[in-house]
Amino acid sequence: MRISVIGSGYVGIVTGATLAEAGFKITCLDILEEKISDIKRGISPIYEPGLERLIRNGLDSGNLNASTELEKHIANSDVVFVCVGTPSNEDGSIDLQYIESVSKTIGKSIKDSEEDIVVVVKSTVVPLTTEETVQKIILEESGRKRETVGIAMNPEFLREGSAVDDALNPDRIVLGCTDEKSKTALMKIYEGHTCPIMHCDPRTAEMIKYSSNSFLAAKISFVNELANMCDKWNMDFERVAEGMGMDSRISKQFLRAGVGFGGSCFPKDVKALRRAAKNDGLSSEMLDATLSVNEKQPEIVVNMAREMLGELKNKKIAVLGLAFKADTDDIRESRAFNIVEKLKNENAEVIGHDPQATETFAKETGITCTDDLEEALRGVDCVIIQTEWDEYKSIKPEFLCNLMKKPIVIDGRRTFDNGYFTDSDVEYVAIGLGN
Ligand code: UDX
Repeated sequence: MRISVIGSGYVGIVTGATLAEAGFKITCLDILEEKISDIKRGISPIYEPGLERLIRNGLDSGNLNASTELEKHIANSDVVFVCVGTPSNEDGSIDLQYIESVSKTIGKSIKDSEEDIVVVVKSTVVPLTTEETVQKIILEESGRKRETVGIAMNPEFLREGSAVDDALNPDRIVLGCTDEKSKTALMKIYEGHTCPIMHCDPRTAEMIKYSSNSFLAAKISFVNELANMCDKWNMDFERVAEGMGMDSRISKQFLRAGVGFGGSCFPKDVKALRRAAKNDGLSSEMLDATLSVNEKQPEIVVNMAREMLGELKNKKIAVLGLAFKADTDDIRESRAFNIVEKLKNENAEVIGHDPQATETFAKETGITCTDDLEEALRGVDCVIIQTEWDEYKSIKPEFLCNLMKKPIVIDGRRTFDNGYFTDSDVEYVAIGLGN
């Protein structure tokens, strides 16, 4: 089976490299020369644990190839995965320009061929997009008969930082096929997996993706609201979460309170689903609340800083963790932006620290950033932890006391266990810890 993966961003490169590892002949396609030449040299275009090794394995075995010649490779493929980005428009809806242009390219590429082809949408698109945009454009542009083109929607559920493992060992596979051709091809591609495989139509597959992400985002906002109550009533929300999580219907996952969710998926997907609902006159109160709680959470750590230091003007504050979560260099929608902005509005002097994401964050915000923890901590009045990097978990209280002007730790991610600083001079406050 010859497989092309269009779009060598996050989803595309992980899909391509893991399918190559499983033994398929893969060509990763992108219009950006730089990305393709990186992949060809065994360099991953994104930071993701384990990915570069898979890319190198693929290049060595000859299973993985990369090219900017989209039409040529699409025309020679049995299956094409569409993995291009669907960024947000101002109003929260998704921008379909890349989906539309790739659909046109596919249509053009298969125009003069009689051979069967299967097109699988992996990009996150709102319900009906695969049928009403992708399929429609491909058939119009190619003039091909519907029976010769298989169309399916197969959402990804990859988490940044563990995307390779998620792709190699998924907990479910959703196949939204419109025809037997695409179903047969996808069953062959995923035959090595033992997890449940769900079959449905494309619109259901699209909705499963949005519903899953919106549910998880809502769960986070819900626990954040509860954690804020625990703060007020002086108890540790982690204990509450422990008790809640024992109910298998609730599950103990995604009960971590903090400064809120960021990243390339949750904020964008909740906004897109809300917009799509609004466009069709449907209410989306749960989605509205999910976003509004999330907007308010970063304020809490800034308020804590003010309570402990008084006026923040000219206070030196280190924000530890700029990536939206640990084990990634991705700063998209990171809560660090909201925290830094609020601190700057109060004329505090801010320094950012991150093991992976300093360059991009400094460029976007103009603040000083460093990957040297000692430099970040030296002489600061307090630290605010935004990302729970392992590097922070092993910080010793004496280290903080020696370097900081005042050893005050405001933990926006419950990085440290309750009691970690008990016998030290460190003043420790955290979201949902009570006082
Ligand atoms: C998410 C989904 O988990 C994944 O299935 C989907 O395919 C893409 O979106 P990702 O954005 O990589 O993955 O990160 P995830 O680990 O889910 O965390 C998202 C955000 O929620 C992070 O900012 C994280 O810090 C926050 N979070 C997560 C919490 O605040 N509390 C939690 O309990 C869990």
